[in-house]
Amino acid sequence: MIPFAGTGILLTLLQVAFCYPYDPHAIRKRNIVTQSELLDSYDFVIAGGGTAGLVLGSRLSEDVDTTVLILEAGDTGDAVSSSIDIPGNAYYQSLLNTPYDWNYATTSQPNAGNRVLPWPRGKVLGGSSAINGLYSKSETFVPPSPEVQQAANIGYDLSSHGSNGPLYNSFPGFIVPLVGSWVPTLSALGVPETQDAYNGQTWGTFIAASTINPTNWTRSYSRSAYLDPLPPRSNLHVLPNVMVTRLLFRNSSASDSGIGNLAASAVEYASSPTVTRSTVGVSREVILAGGAIGSPTILMQSGIGPKNVLESAGVQVELDLPGVGQHLQDHLSVQLIYSTPADTATTIHSNSPDSTHVYSPTFLSFINSATAYVNLSTLLGSSAPSFQNDVSNAASTSPTLLGAGQDPTVVAGYQAIYNASLQLLDSPLGHVEMLLSLTGGGQTVAVQVALQRPFSQGSLYITTNNPFNYPTIDPKYLSHTADRTLFREGAKFARQIAQTQPLADALTAELVPGTDVNTDYEWDNWVAQNVGTEYHPSSTCAMLPLAQGGVVDTDLRVYGLANVRVVDASIFPMQFAAHLVAPTFGLAEQASDLIRKQYNGGVLPSNTNGSTPNSTSSRSPTPTSGASHVSLPSLMLSSAIFGFVLFTVL
Ligand SMILES: Cc1cc2nc3c(=O)[nH]c(=O)nc-3n(C[C@H](O)[C@H](O)[C@H](O)COP(=O)(O)OP(=O)(O)OC[C@H]3O[C@@H](n4cnc5c(N)ncnc54)[C@H](O)[C@@H]3O)c2cc1C
Ligand SMILES: *[C@@H]1O[C@H](CO)[C@@H](O)[C@H](O)[C@H]1NC(C)=O
Ligand SMILES: *[C@@H]1O[C@H](CO)[C@@H](O)[C@H](O)[C@H]1NC(C)=O
Ligand SMILES: *[C@@H]1O[C@H](CO)[C@@H](O)[C@H](O)[C@H]1NC(C)=O
Ligand SMILES: *[C@@H]1O[C@H](CO)[C@@H](O)[C@H](O)[C@H]1NC(C)=O
Ligand SMILES: *[C@@H]1O[C@H](CO)[C@@H](O)[C@H](O)[C@H]1NC(C)=O
Ligand SMILES: *[C@@H]1O[C@H](CO)[C@@H](O)[C@H](O)[C@H]1NC(C)=O
Repeated sequence: MIPFAGTGILLTLLQVAFCYPYDPHAIRKRNIVTQSELLDSYDFVIAGGGTAGLVLGSRLSEDVDTTVLILEAGDTGDAVSSSIDIPGNAYYQSLLNTPYDWNYATTSQPNAGNRVLPWPRGKVLGGSSAINGLYSKSETFVPPSPEVQQAANIGYDLSSHGSNGPLYNSFPGFIVPLVGSWVPTLSALGVPETQDAYNGQTWGTFIAASTINPTNWTRSYSRSAYLDPLPPRSNLHVLPNVMVTRLLFRNSSASDSGIGNLAASAVEYASSPTVTRSTVGVSREVILAGGAIGSPTILMQSGIGPKNVLESAGVQVELDLPGVGQHLQDHLSVQLIYSTPADTATTIHSNSPDSTHVYSPTFLSFINSATAYVNLSTLLGSSAPSFQNDVSNAASTSPTLLGAGQDPTVVAGYQAIYNASLQLLDSPLGHVEMLLSLTGGGQTVAVQVALQRPFSQGSLYITTNNPFNYPTIDPKYLSHTADRTLFREGAKFARQIAQTQPLADALTAELVPGTDVNTDYEWDNWVAQNVGTEYHPSSTCAMLPLAQGGVVDTDLRVYGLANVRVVDASIFPMQFAAHLVAPTFGLAEQASDLIRKQYNGGVLPSNTNGSTPNSTSSRSPTPTSGASHVSLPSLMLSSAIFGFVLFTVL
């Protein structure tokens, strides 16, 4: 990410000068309220107005008799709307390391050079969908222009896409010519183009769609898709700038819908550590949508989590639930860097004398999107079977990597996830992702490598009873040998990509790691010193059986609680070969239907005040869409084909 000080003002001037359709002053506050406007109690209180939280708030409030409150720790984002709305500003005017980023960090990682690694998360309405890289289905898919399609070699299949969803999914209006070399280069290396990566076939090479609204080249994210287009709804309130500090409980009554005795009666929140906490009542449910870090933290601060963790943090134990904060998994990534005389997005952005081109909305819609998911046989060749054998043999001893004294249910969950990942090794699914980045420094091109289904798992936990203190995050990166092997072979494959035509024709020298790194030992060392998050933490409130350290059941209800669900990226029990925003939107849509049906005799209510624009009812048929089921059993880990299933339910 490149800091680009001063662009904001310039941009605003240019927008004015060139009649840029983007309007940073658009009034978008209709359902956003101040604390004094809050009701005493709501049917649903949603903790976190991020990716999933705004989808839930928007959908649940379609029912006129249902009151919904969303509490979001971050600001509205209005003051930095150009950073959020303009796709390319994810690079040129990034919100990382600003107050709109939680700026978490991991513990020192022994297998990553003992480094403390930064963990950005969006702290703003829209959450991480407001600050992410736009890679991406509650969607309106808009095909690329013929010019862009041809320049970048973009394939797509309309039948796998939605045509009437609130979220736009499309392609940039401008493509850096070098992108066009990606598909033929990967094809030459035996990773053929997939015409359709959006029907569960997450393998092969493609130019990914991005969450871009091509009518004005703006970012499409949970706020612009689900909140801003809404008319004023007297039954929906969104309160930014308040942190949910904990849930308050009562004993459950017959009307509660959950699976335990303890019912949340109110949600406590505060705008800062020093002000007196406030509470708001809950008549139906609390839905946690704080993300993979926020949601388990709220549970633990509320006394729901591993007993030993809560006791040492000084939090009164309401319920010993060992799986909270466990099973933490992330996509880890590293990049090889090459010099090039060719145009990159960065050089065009900084060098062009023709600023009208550089700052045109079409140019600023350029986003990296060249992707390939490489399977195990392509990556390891003839040694793939012996690698699989080694991973299989390590299954029973690997739980020691979780650390001493682990709860047996959490260990069982680890083994279940391990078994599922092991089976997927022998599948066409991608194990390592390759990405082409044209937005790095100056005259350079990067090929990024990211591991998709790690065998290493960590945890996060609170250490104090102050909800404003950050949790300790230990992903235990690369603790499993299999991950180190896959990473090293992935990095070698990235070098092969750079040495293969036609991409090779545009590259002059390998700058990072450089020609000194050749042996496995050298690669391993270099990887350890250079890996970092691909920003996809998950699984800290995993949907798994209770006996496997699960936190939520297939209806997303927290075990032991009468009326609390979790709906966000923390519930996915294992990682998959995809960036997480599309699965999170899909999950939140499914969860909204499930919850609305539950309170309406198993069908979607008819007393709505108009649906959220646009309704997703015309999404293409999926294996689950016809059924009036009210749970998500297809997401359970018991399905060894999790990667496929998840994508087909979206
Ligand atoms: C820098 C970056 C780049 C990424 N790039 C991509 C990409 O290109 N493509 C892709 O598919 N995915 C990408 N991701 C990942 C993807 O955006 C996330 O996985 C997804 O948005 C997570 O959604 P969520 O609803 O689980 O959490 P979030 O969207 O993070 O929402 C959680 C919300 O809860 C709020 N919150 C947390 N705790 C509290 C509390 N106690 N009280 C009140 N509010 C609280 C947070 O402020 C936040 O708004 C990226 C993520 C980041 C950070
Ligand atoms: C972009 O266009 C959409 C309509 O497609 C509109 O709702 C939105 O406000 C516009 N965004 C900006 C920032 O102007
Ligand atoms: C329903 O919609 C109308 C018109 O948009 C609005 O005035 C009214 O407040 C809405 N009712 C609720 C319960 O939101
Ligand atoms: C629930 O009921 C039990 C038994 O009556 C009581 O001890 C406990 O304090 C109650 N808990 C709450 C949160 O009211
Ligand atoms: C994992 O697989 C092993 C070997 O096939 C088996 O013994 C074990 O019971 C499985 N564990 C779980 C939790 O599925
Ligand atoms: C991996 O991909 C290659 C190229 O598409 C294919 O020939 C091979 O069968 C795939 N491997 C598996 C295990 O599906
Ligand atoms: C919503 O869908 C309808 C029907 O497909 C379409 O005419 C309309 O333009 C869409 N509205 C938005 C805001 O995309």
